[in-house]
Amino acid sequence: MPGPSTLSNLIEFFWRDGFSRIHEIQLEHRKKYGKIFKSRFGPQLVVSIADRGLVAEVLRAEGVAPQRANMESWHEYRDMRGRSNGLISAEGEDWLNMRSVLRQLIMRPRDVAVFSDDVNEVVDDLVTRVCALRAQESDGTTVLNVNDLFFKYAMEGVASILYECRLGCLETNVPQKTQDYIGALNLMFSSFKTTMYAGAIPKWLRPIIPKPWEEFCNSWDGLFKFSMIHVDKRFSDIKAQLQRGEEVKGGLLTHLLVTREMSIEEIYANVTEMLLAGVDTVGFIFLSNGHLPTSVKLNFPLHASQTKGSGTADDGMWRRRRRFGSLEAVCQKFLRLFPVLPGNGRIIQDDLVVGGYFIPKGTQLALCHYSTSLEEENFSDALEFQPQRWVRKDASDRVDNFGSIPFGYGIRSCVGRRIAELEMHLALIRLIQKFRIEVSPVTTEVKAKTHGLLCPSAPINLRFVDREN
Ligand code: HEM
Repeated sequence: MPGPSTLSNLIEFFWRDGFSRIHEIQLEHRKKYGKIFKSRFGPQLVVSIADRGLVAEVLRAEGVAPQRANMESWHEYRDMRGRSNGLISAEGEDWLNMRSVLRQLIMRPRDVAVFSDDVNEVVDDLVTRVCALRAQESDGTTVLNVNDLFFKYAMEGVASILYECRLGCLETNVPQKTQDYIGALNLMFSSFKTTMYAGAIPKWLRPIIPKPWEEFCNSWDGLFKFSMIHVDKRFSDIKAQLQRGEEVKGGLLTHLLVTREMSIEEIYANVTEMLLAGVDTVGFIFLSNGHLPTSVKLNFPLHASQTKGSGTADDGMWRRRRRFGSLEAVCQKFLRLFPVLPGNGRIIQDDLVVGGYFIPKGTQLALCHYSTSLEEENFSDALEFQPQRWVRKDASDRVDNFGSIPFGYGIRSCVGRRIAELEMHLALIRLIQKFRIEVSPVTTEVKAKTHGLLCPSAPINLRFVDREN
């Protein structure tokens, strides 16, 4: 099997900062080595699949509990602190049990429609914040560094569902506890490279190079601490309500705490991992709205007339999706041109023959979604903005294309997809109805970089101009 040599890989990643260019390296390697190639990272052999047909073959052959990647460092941290794994890090029977609980609660559009009112309240605050921020600029329309704003919206939105409370991310003065959490989250992503090293550096080397492992543990400590505060708070509220003989009502967290379908440690781990999975992904997708126009020279694609309606809970999720079909198509298109997870992994659990090669059980596969998303043979005029490719003619019309599967595919795909879509749709509907959104002239071309996830490499500044009606 073709592929870069171990030495050139080491130079590419450790010397030329390849970890922040994983998406570009995927394209280069696809061009140079073809649809399937191998790389070595120290002792770890990785087989990369950069073809939509082969990606489909791999994912369709999955068993009942697919394994995503080598999560040894995550497991080690959790063992060391006596913590449980959440859905991202769990494997086998543990994963199956937790997945079947969460699947029933948040994987259908109608399950998450009940969160619409909570998310709409967060959207109210987003709009207020946009108005406050643009008022600080001399032109009265520009919001500088929307990266930060959308990150905070995503965090507030996901937390309103996961913790059933507000964090104050969109307030002028963000509460200290929330700031600490944002610090831990940033550390987790900014130390993505370090995290890779934490996993890659053998344990015996840690006394000599302690920093990566220490930072990895510190950021997890911060993330767990924050979740535990909110879970414990909801738990004691529920106990107090029961003691007073009141009926306990609530959302996802209340359900988990009351039914005890998961242990308390599993609840801590799952809300921690879901918040981690949900904040930057959703935040970065909003950013692609601003990022894409600057990089592919497009303008904001939706017009207010395409988004009539309120997007409230009584709109009904499915009705809303039909009405806002074009909006959904736009999100799909953003996710194709800007897949926040540019690649995904699998450790295959059975021997497999792919692309004419025998791949033994236990091999780590890297599925190159960024490269397949931009492949001309998968999407004609691949860099063009054509949301109509994703518009479904009716409910039975499916637009399946393994070239672009931003939420993954099959039994181990993104469990938070419907929550993410709810957050994206409700905020976009309102923003587009209220403002004409343009890239500010102070934004220069912003390139993508890999920072754990695919994200813009510089602040994006947008103008929010009031629509006349
Ligand atoms: C635009 C937003 C998002 C994108 C593009 C995205 C994408 C993904 C992808 C590609 C995976 C891996 C799937 C696989 O291995 O086949 C994943 C897994 C996961 N995502 Fe998301 N995600 C998003 C938002 C969210 C949100 C909002 C949450 C939580 C509220 C979430 C929670 C998770 C979890 C827990 C997993 C692990 C699932 C498992 O292993 O069973 N994601 N996501």
